[in-house]
Amino acid sequence: MRFPKRTAYCGELRPTDVGRRVVLNGWIARIRDLGGVIFLDIRDHSGLCQALVRPAQQPELARRVRQLSTESVIWLEGTVQERENPNPALPTGFVEIAVEHLGILNAASPPPFPISDEVPLTEEVRLRYRYLDLRRPIMQRYLRTRHRVYQIIHRYFDRHGFVEIETPLLTRSTPEGARDFLVPSRLHPGRFYALPQSPQLFKQLLMVAGFDRYVQIVKCFRDEDLRADRQPEFTQVDVEMAFVEREDILTLIEGLFVELWYELLGIELRTPFPRLSYADAMMRYGSDKPDLRYDLAIQTVTDLFADTQFAIFQSAHRLGHVIAGIRVEGGSVLSRRELEELAESVRPYGLPGMVWLKYEASGWHSPIAKHLQPSEFEALRDRFQLRHGDLLLLAAAPWQTCYSALGALRQILARRLGLLSAEYRFVWILDFPLFEYSATEGRYVARHHPFTAPLEEDIPLLETAPERVRAQAYDVVLNGEEIGGGSIRIHTAELQQKVFTLLGLSPEQAHEKFGFLLEAFRYGAPPHGGIALGLDRIVMLMTGAESLRDVIAFPKTTSGLSLVDGAPAPVEPEQLAELGLVLSIPKEG
Ligand code: AMO
Repeated sequence: MRFPKRTAYCGELRPTDVGRRVVLNGWIARIRDLGGVIFLDIRDHSGLCQALVRPAQQPELARRVRQLSTESVIWLEGTVQERENPNPALPTGFVEIAVEHLGILNAASPPPFPISDEVPLTEEVRLRYRYLDLRRPIMQRYLRTRHRVYQIIHRYFDRHGFVEIETPLLTRSTPEGARDFLVPSRLHPGRFYALPQSPQLFKQLLMVAGFDRYVQIVKCFRDEDLRADRQPEFTQVDVEMAFVEREDILTLIEGLFVELWYELLGIELRTPFPRLSYADAMMRYGSDKPDLRYDLAIQTVTDLFADTQFAIFQSAHRLGHVIAGIRVEGGSVLSRRELEELAESVRPYGLPGMVWLKYEASGWHSPIAKHLQPSEFEALRDRFQLRHGDLLLLAAAPWQTCYSALGALRQILARRLGLLSAEYRFVWILDFPLFEYSATEGRYVARHHPFTAPLEEDIPLLETAPERVRAQAYDVVLNGEEIGGGSIRIHTAELQQKVFTLLGLSPEQAHEKFGFLLEAFRYGAPPHGGIALGLDRIVMLMTGAESLRDVIAFPKTTSGLSLVDGAPAPVEPEQLAELGLVLSIPKEG
């Protein structure tokens, strides 16, 4: 199809263009037929511009325009002129185009919803008609920012001597981590590829291969229950380096964030980012991904109630539980009902109740006031550095429950009190436990993955107290979201075998699952380590998008469906037969 090509983008015309003859290509955003004049807004990705047709002088043109639906694709040619009624809200709002020629490249059916950032839409409609949703200015901004992020990342790593290498998408299923997406093999019936949860093993092999510095912006697949911050296929900035220690990796990644934030947001981040051990993060913020935009830190006060008369705290002591709490500055204004609601909101986190105390000029006010000694009040006041008007919320529960419930309470309070500022607070979380005990599996499981190295000084504990071994693992957290995680790896077969044994893998099983890695380690594996950043989450936080789905062109719904193409979908019986598969599930419908 031949047609006049654009000489300008719709969104770039300004008063300095008045008198200029232009050709625009785009979509009709709006038509207003006032009888004597027809206004049509023409849009492309850069924005929109008003154009006008005068039916009296241009009857044929007017007839054609009147037949068009919005979202029809057109070209038009005309002269830029000053607008009689300017619209300062629009970047092009001072000019318009007096149309001289107009051609229809494709007449559109009326769209199911107006292409506008102002109209509220359900997510289902947006995902079903994603190509229309993506036409909206805000979505254009999100995905174009994402593109800029890719470019900066590629440039940054290239400048630092990294090599981008692709790793396979059809891989072997390995245990640990989330559930795999499986792909049946036609050539080898009964065998399956797995889509990679991450290129972890391959990037380690690349270190053995001597590449020294590897990076890849790569899709990863995890068949896990979805939440707002999770997608079954998502993108990692995957990094691995040889001959490094933890510090080298943290510094490199901080440099990347500095560059991204400066170039895209004009913000100068200060480095080094603060660091917290996992244990401190849990005890101060009740989370291994604390939001540091607000304080509301947790204080442990178990020790203050060693001789208490208050029955609930007495039994906490007896059971070895923790008593901890949060000071809410100026929080004594909260009503009894609001306090009850707060207590209710942490019940799902396993906290049966919460104690509140208001510290006011007139004295202490609390349902438990009569159970506490004056010395206990004083101790609380000093520990929390309370000022008149403050509120204290205390909980008593087992370690994990107490801190994670108070961590959830921190977030609820911050939202209620409007403390979620627009700033960016990065923090590294270090020294995670190497293992976690899984009650369901009755064995230890790796907290990061089975190749994570223990802290050197904790290696002897592998024999005696595996649950106390800390890992050389780190997460980078931004405003309460985990945006990356990695570790220094085990690089000797001997230590690797020891860890496998603790994970309940016999030498035979380990060989069966990871034999290729163990074998590679025999041929000169350098000390190495790496990290993977969650690219979708980073773009979400940089753009202020509400969900991960907003920064992914074609995401899945929370139930894992792709509404644009209808995946996952049934396949033909012949396809199953070719793969040697027989379905044992009842047929749908
Ligand atoms: P990890 O599993 O911590 O590490 O993943 C790295 C980062 O990827 C992001 N992420 C996700 N983003 C969206 N949807 C998901 N389902 C999802 N899962 C993870 C997070 C996370 O911090 N191989 C290791 C890295 C390493 O050790 O080098 C790994 O995959 O932001």
